[in-house]
Amino acid sequence: MDLSATDMLRGLTEATSTTVTEEFTDVTLAVQGELPAAIDGVYFRNGPGRFERGGHRYRHPFDGDGHVTRLDLGGGAVRYTNRFVRTKEFVEEERAGRMRYRSFGTNLPGGLPANLLRLTFKNAANTSVRWHAGRLLALWEGGPPHRLDPVTLATLGTEDFDGRLDNAFSLIGRWLAPLLPFSAHPHIDGETGELYNFGLVSGSPNQIMLYRVGPDGRMDEPGQHALPRFSFVHDLGVTRHWLCFLLPRADFDIPRATLGLTTAVGSLSIATERPMQVLMLPREPGTATPRLLTGPPGFVFHVAQAFDDAAGRVVLDVVRYGSYPALDALEALFHDPPEGAAPRLERLLLDPMRQRCERLSLGTDADSPAFELPVGAPAALGAPRRILYGVGAPPGRRAPYFSAIQRLDTETGALTTRDFGLDLAGEPMLVPGAGGEEGWLLSLVCRAGQGRTDLVVLRAADLSIQATAPLPHAVPLGFHGCWVPRAELSLARRA
Ligand SMILES: [Fe+2]
Repeated sequence: MDLSATDMLRGLTEATSTTVTEEFTDVTLAVQGELPAAIDGVYFRNGPGRFERGGHRYRHPFDGDGHVTRLDLGGGAVRYTNRFVRTKEFVEEERAGRMRYRSFGTNLPGGLPANLLRLTFKNAANTSVRWHAGRLLALWEGGPPHRLDPVTLATLGTEDFDGRLDNAFSLIGRWLAPLLPFSAHPHIDGETGELYNFGLVSGSPNQIMLYRVGPDGRMDEPGQHALPRFSFVHDLGVTRHWLCFLLPRADFDIPRATLGLTTAVGSLSIATERPMQVLMLPREPGTATPRLLTGPPGFVFHVAQAFDDAAGRVVLDVVRYGSYPALDALEALFHDPPEGAAPRLERLLLDPMRQRCERLSLGTDADSPAFELPVGAPAALGAPRRILYGVGAPPGRRAPYFSAIQRLDTETGALTTRDFGLDLAGEPMLVPGAGGEEGWLLSLVCRAGQGRTDLVVLRAADLSIQATAPLPHAVPLGFHGCWVPRAELSLARRA
């Protein structure tokens, strides 16, 4: 397909920076094609939905206010609801009609005087929305989760897990952030219902907080582990025995950010030419000695899966970037990335006994296409998933790399692709089929040049399109979400 740079840029701008101005409640969508009768539940997804405030635009896609979509699929029909997450900061800024908080990549308008020593940042609540133990949580890695009503999407307040997220590190720390961060990538055990997550706390030393929430929603006393140095971690891998973190060599220029001379992201430097460290912590505290291995260079946002092998090693499938992506210059997505810069799915083999990390082939290495937003089937944590799904550029086209949905068979290396051309596809969410059937994938696809977003339903096994349902408005490209079978929602309502 011949993609002109102008067309690509127009599509990109629509898909990543169109502010949502309307909130809909339980609107029935027209469905083209046939929605499989076995799909019965709700697809929740979160992403930035507001990109300006008081005439000033956010300068980074991670700064847009969290906007959650709810697609209720069942009986061949789709019903749609959307709401912004009403964080304290969102409500204050709505009332004031202007920015009142700094964001990850945007300082307050007004230069140095407006930003000097302004150390409280907006909880954007925009990265994921997850369902666990009858609670729907909007997540952002720099702060606590927000609890949402699973039917109306009304914001019910921050979730502190009965005080377990209270920040007790220091008076000043508590003043700046009364609640500890809870990352946007919790991992839920499909067998036991346990949830594992983490949060990074800056200090001396820097700490990684470790959270386990039981299937009843109760959080254990959080664990903590001092990091060898500051790092930037977005996701983790959880196996039957280990919690695994990839630690890139990252530095924040804290004085410059504190003085307001730069944004938080502007003060971040990641030495991607240097090896990452791989931190392995025992899943059950005290059952093994923590390990710190030397990994490959680069940067990793997402861990696609993690499992133990028979020899006591850990297989970690990760999406690795050769260099940190310049996400504030989004048009970079639409040009051929420099060699080695595109995100690629790779397999690491961690040997805690020999303290070694090896890179293995996933069968697609030679000219493997870009791959991001990895998703697998729900299963026990630590059980291998043969099939992984994600977004990327189709083979033979290196950009834009959110214009295809992919299915990778990790045993054979076979890669199946659904090419969306100029349109940009969001994270594919798996609806597992019954009786071992692979099921379906749901994705919100931004239609380039049409100011429209469609729900697209694909058969997971071959990525054929089963049904399409246009939303009543354009919803920008988002991040992460979850699928909740109707039976689980109904149980929660009765409890
Ligand atoms: Fe993520």
